[in-house]
Amino acid sequence: MKIAVLGATGQTGQQLVQQALQQGHCVTAVVRNPAKLTVHHDNLKVVEANIFSADSLKEPLTGQDVVMSCLGFPTSFMSAVTGYTLSMHATVRAMRDAKVSRLITMTSWYTERKPHSYYTHDQGTEHILTHL
Ligand SMILES: NC(=O)c1ccc[n+]([C@@H]2O[C@H](COP(=O)([O-])OP(=O)(O)OC[C@H]3O[C@@H](n4cnc5c(N)ncnc54)[C@H](OP(=O)(O)O)[C@@H]3O)[C@@H](O)[C@H]2O)c1
Repeated sequence: MKIAVLGATGQTGQQLVQQALQQGHCVTAVVRNPAKLTVHHDNLKVVEANIFSADSLKEPLTGQDVVMSCLGFPTSFMSAVTGYTLSMHATVRAMRDAKVSRLITMTSWYTERKPHSYYTHDQGTEHILTHL
C-alpha cells in the first residue's frame, strides 16, 4: 500500500514508518523538519508540509491509499489543545481534494465504547467518527 504518515518524526510515527517499510509498503513521511527523520529506505519519501493547511497537504496525500496520523500535541492546563482538531480539519479537506478515503489517527482522546465508564464516548463522538 501507499501510506502517508503524519507525525512521522515522533516516537510512534518512527515505529510506524519502520514497520510499514519492513512489511513492504511505500511510505510518504509528511513532516515539518525532514532532518529529524533518521530512517532511509528506497520506499520512503520524505515531504515537508504544514499539517494545518489543506493546500499544503493536498500534494503529498495525492495518490496515497491511506493516511495515518501519529501527530501529538502537548497537554496544556493554561489553554485548549487545538492541534488535533485543526490538523484533522486540514487533513480531511486535503484527503477529499486528493480523493483519498482511508484515515487512521491516534489521539489522546479515549474512544472505547464501554457503558458506565468514566471515559465512555457519547453519541456525538460516535456521529463525528462515523462521518470522517
Ligand atoms: N507515547 C505514548 O505513550 C502515548 C500514550 C497514549 C497516547 N498517545 C498518543 O499517540 C500520539 C502520538 O504520540 P507520540 O508519543 O508518538 O508523540 P510525539 O513523540 O510527541 O510525536 C508527535 C509528532 O507530532 C508532530 N507534531 C507536533 N506538532 C506539530 C506541528 N505543529 N506541525 C507538524 N508536526 C507536529 C511532531 O513533529 P516534530 O518531531 O517535528 O516535533 C512529532 O512527529 C499522540 O496523539 C499521543 O497523545 C501516546
